[in-house]
Formats: sequence, C-alpha cells, structure tokens
Amino acid sequence: TDPLRIGIIGLGTVGGGVLKLLETNAALITRRAGRPLVVAAVSARNRTRERGVDLSAFAWEDDPVALARRDDVDLVVEAMGGEDGPAKAATEAALGAGKHVVTANKAMLAHHGQALAEAAEASGAALRFEAAVAGGIPCVKALGEGMAGNRITRLMGVLNGTCNYILTRMEAGGEPYAEVLEDAQRLGYAEADPSFDVGGTDAAHKLALMAALAFGTRVDFDGVKTEGIDQVRLADIAHAAEMGYRIKLLGVARMHGDGLEQRMQPCLTPAGSPIGKLEGVTNMVVLESDFAGRTVYEGPGAGAGPTASAIAADMIDIARGARTPAFGIPAAQLRAAPRATGGAP
Ligand code: NDP
Ligand code: HSE
Repeated sequence: TDPLRIGIIGLGTVGGGVLKLLETNAALITRRAGRPLVVAAVSARNRTRERGVDLSAFAWEDDPVALARRDDVDLVVEAMGGEDGPAKAATEAALGAGKHVVTANKAMLAHHGQALAEAAEASGAALRFEAAVAGGIPCVKALGEGMAGNRITRLMGVLNGTCNYILTRMEAGGEPYAEVLEDAQRLGYAEADPSFDVGGTDAAHKLALMAALAFGTRVDFDGVKTEGIDQVRLADIAHAAEMGYRIKLLGVARMHGDGLEQRMQPCLTPAGSPIGKLEGVTNMVVLESDFAGRTVYEGPGAGAGPTASAIAADMIDIARGARTPAFGIPAAQLRAAPRATGGAP
C-alpha cells in the first residue's frame, strides 16, 4: 500500500513529539492506518540545533511554504504556531495544493478557521485539529463524531494546562505564579508568548473552536468574554481554600434564545467536585447533550506526548480516508450566531 507521506513544520515540543511517536509506534500505526505514515520532509528555523532526534533521513526545508508545496508530501503537520505569518501561509499553500493539514495551532484556527475550512473543502483536502484543543483529550472527535447525533446544550472546560499547573503549584507550595510559570515553560506546556496562557487567550481560542463544533456556528473568538489568572494572588487562593473551593480557569459555552454565550474566566469550584479536583497540567471537558446526557473527558492538556497523540490520531484518520469537515459540517453551512446579551455567569 502507498505510504502517507508527511511533512512536519516545527520541531519543538509538538513536532519533536510527533517524530518520536511515529518512530516508537510505527508498526502499530501502520496496522491501524492500513498504510505506513512516513516522514518525508521537515522544517524549523534552526537547521543545526541539536534536537535529540536523527533528522538525516528527511529532506530539510528552511521555508515552511516550500515544504507545504513539495511533491513528496501528502500531509502537512503544522506545529510551528502563530496566528498569521508562515504558519498560515504554509497551511494555505498546502490546502490550496490539495494536501491535508493537521495542525495544533488554535490561535490560527480561532482567527482563520472558517476560511481555512473553506479552502480545505474547495480542494478536497482534510483539515484536522484534535491537538489544538485540550491536548491528549480527543474532544474534537467527541464533538464532531461521537456526539454528532446529539444537540449539545452546554459545554464546559478547563482548557489550559499551563494555568492549571500554575494554580496547583501556587496552592501546594505558596509560590507566586511568575516563578511557577518558568517551570511550565521549561516543561514545554506554555505558549511561545506565555501571556496567551495566563491571560486566558489560549483557553478562549480553544473554547471558540469547541463552540463552533458543538453548535454548528462559525468560530467567534472575539465573542468570548475572557479573563485570565494573571490577577489571581496567593491570598485569593488561600481565601478560596478556607471556604472549601479551588480557583480554576473555566470556560463555558451555551446557546441561549438570543445567541451564543462564551466565557472564559477564573471560577471558584468546590474542592471536591470533578473540576475542583483537577491537578497539574490536567484538562477537563464536560459536554451536556439532549440524548447522551452529561459526558466528561479528562486528561493531560499540554506537553509533547499528549499533543503528539492527538496529531497521530488525525493522521491515522486521514490515512484511512476520512474527510470529515473540519467543524463537523461543511463550512458554508456553519451559522454566524449572534452573541448572547444576557445569561448567568
Ligand atoms: P515550540 O516553540 O516548542 O516549537 C516551535 C517550532 O516551530 C520550533 O521547532 C521552531 O524552530 C519552529 N518555527 C518557528 N518559526 C518558524 C519558521 N518561521 N519557520 C520554520 N519553523 C519555525 O512550540 P510548541 O511545539 O510548544 O508549539 C507549536 C504549536 O503547537 C503552537 O501552535 C502551539 O500553540 C501548539 N500546541 C502546543 C502544545 C504544547 O503543549 N506545547 C499543545 C498543543 C498545541 P526552531 O526549533 O528552529 O526554533
Ligand atoms: N499552552 C497550552 C496549555 C498548550 O498550556 O494548555 C496546550 O494547548
């Protein structure tokens, strides 16, 4: 059987994790995908950087767009990041040439998801982004496929691993968040600009993507009322604990009569509740639906292994022939929902 030929843009935490996973689980993936997944080419900024992985078997491209246009690449993994710039240019180039794209880039999708989904459908390519939301939790697949027969009434999520890691460490050790943030960066959890994490923007990107999948609406990132954890102080955490609560950065999205409500903000959660019990980099997604009821998904929300797992699942799906629309239904049918004016927090 013909291999699916992969080009990887970005060889940092995520791209490096993908290379490692493809090598470690090659035989298992070939069986599940029905064909081998073979890395043909890679791209990063610095060709000579030591990455702890042998790149000699792969073609190297300095330019991500050139990689996306290579004839020997069928599927591009975009693991570079950035809302615009080369990540978007390479994604557009790949989709325009009919090549599939698997991306971890929630910032790009939160701003350009609609146009990119349309570009994918126009050329018959697949655009998939399981890795962009909640790390190793397969919640895009849950929303787009597993729950496709349901009307989602509400979704909630702890969607930023860095924030939950910081809050947990602050609780446990009484350390200020600036110091703990450095550890989150060292562990590969944080965004290139960590203000996206602590300011709530990264989690809001993810909530907007999930809401589009859940409600069949166009991604509306600007409609997310967003507040981060950068104003949370040790004293706030201590007061919450005295009352039996923990502070979590929690997102909620639901459709009201008058429109879509999307909020991302620090919330007091009962310490004994499923969300209140989350530790470290863990994320949680809660879906409420008309027929399945309440379903809950929990797992590591950031880091090389969990993110690579999500990218691999998308690649295997595409290798099997799946061409599911990026947001579950064709892009042209996604509705532009008005923003809810009222609604309880
Ligand atoms: P890193 O900073 O670890 O890696 C980024 C990679 O992109 C590096 O290899 C870098 O090259 C490369 N790169 C940057 N700019 C260019 C360019 N202009 N041309 C070619 N290559 C370039 O980031 P992450 O791996 O953490 O994140 C990548 C993406 O995945 C982001 O969109 C992020 O939001 C997303 N993501 C990250 C998760 C995580 O846990 N870290 C989880 C889920 C999603 P070089 O190494 O030479 O500097
Ligand atoms: N910076 C993100 C987080 C990476 O901490 O959740 C995973 O999307």
